[in-house]
Amino acid sequence: MSSFPALRMRRGRSSPWMREMLAENRLHPSDFILPMFVCEGSGCEEPIASLRGVSRWSVDRLAERAREAARLGIPCVALFPNTPARLRTDDAAEALNPDNLICRGIRAIKDAVPQIGILTDVALDPYTSHGHDGLTDDRGCVVNDATVEMLVRQAVVQAAAGADIVAPSDMMDGRVGAIRSALEQDGHCDVAIMAYAAKYASAFYGPFRDAVGSKGLLKGDKRSYQMDPANGFEAIREVELDLAEGADMVMVKPGLPYLDVLARVKDTFGVPTFAYQVSGEYAMIEAAAEAGAADRDALILETLMAFKRAGATGVLTYHALDAARLING
Ligand code: PBG
Repeated sequence: MSSFPALRMRRGRSSPWMREMLAENRLHPSDFILPMFVCEGSGCEEPIASLRGVSRWSVDRLAERAREAARLGIPCVALFPNTPARLRTDDAAEALNPDNLICRGIRAIKDAVPQIGILTDVALDPYTSHGHDGLTDDRGCVVNDATVEMLVRQAVVQAAAGADIVAPSDMMDGRVGAIRSALEQDGHCDVAIMAYAAKYASAFYGPFRDAVGSKGLLKGDKRSYQMDPANGFEAIREVELDLAEGADMVMVKPGLPYLDVLARVKDTFGVPTFAYQVSGEYAMIEAAAEAGAADRDALILETLMAFKRAGATGVLTYHALDAARLING
């Protein structure tokens, strides 16, 4: 075994070209999925206070953003609706409306930017009056099987509108298999499923709930369906189940605080594994930069590289446009 002074690790870091040549991972715009928020109205851009730099866009302005993403080399966008309060009900009926914000958003983007992929969230929280991802019983508990029936119908409605990937983010049991068979039955065999397989009950979702307008509505918390941050092995079981039920790709969420889970999932299954760098992580980076505590561009690139190093196939990130611009130079 040769060691110092014969072996000097710094030789490999000695110049920019050497570092470039020896880099184990590289960021590319195709690593990113851009989440976008959709609102009612026309010609609207609504800045989101807790997510500085991110806005909700009305359907007629959504395609501009998607076109910019495509131009930068981003392969896919993820859509989330800010459903008007009057359309939020206990039974989340608006989730099944083929003309809801999401379906109109899908069609607008498909029309204008057919080359970009569209991922949609399957969960009821943007449509319920209580802000939970599912239907609740009279004690306010989220009921699994009745919720799954709704999610199945919601996924089929999104697929019919043109979604390329449906992404159940609700954490109900058995929903991936139920959605897969409904999609097959309905002729949507090309629509893929990205399962939010290991989704933790996290404080990092705060700004997102503000963005979709469910923040003030949520009664209680989501700990009876989203995972306990204490658990790592349980994530492996969740992923195993979702894959067995027909998930094409899986996701770990949040991102940076759960890199250990991401790496374990990727190393265990070797399937397409995505990370969601969630709204609270975005807000944390922005706040650090704003406070002058660190360089914003460097934080963006370093955190995204961390996902790649941990084994991520790609990352859902609100910094997708910024990152792609930085990478493209
Ligand atoms: C809801 C959903 C959430 C996110 C994506 N889908 C929030 C939640 O579970 O409460 C969070 C994304 C983010 O924080 O950026 N089904």
